[in-house]
Amino acid sequence: MFSTTKKVLVVTAAVMSMSSMVQAGVPAAYTPCSACHGATGKSAIPIYPSLAGQQAAYIVKQLKDFQSGARKDPTMSAMAGLAKGHEQEIADWLATQ
Ligand code: HEC
Repeated sequence: MFSTTKKVLVVTAAVMSMSSMVQAGVPAAYTPCSACHGATGKSAIPIYPSLAGQQAAYIVKQLKDFQSGARKDPTMSAMAGLAKGHEQEIADWLATQ
């Protein structure tokens, strides 16, 4: 009885760690972005651009330009700060989506 429970727990833990490994590819800093740009950077909302598959260097530049004010958008200018320090990580991941 006890050992069956233990086996179930081990299997459950293994499945849970597998699903968190799949999730692990998504940078934590991208979480707030997904509301507009989609879970994997493919936007389902026409007014928000898809970011998946764009060149990493381009994404990094756009984020830094929004942060500095060189590029302005009422929505995105307010969001770019959330990516601060994680621009490259987010961009590298988006480029592979
Ligand atoms: C509330 C919705 C919203 C959220 C949240 C949001 N964005 Fe955006 N994002 C936009 C809009 C709108 C644009 C288009 C801006 C424009 O027209 O210049 C945009 C544009 C961009 C672009 C430029 C795309 C291009 O093709 O030039 C990048 C890169 C980007 N967002 C990254 C992010 C990241 C990273 C986050 C999270 C830190 C984020 N966005 C969060 C709405 C959002």
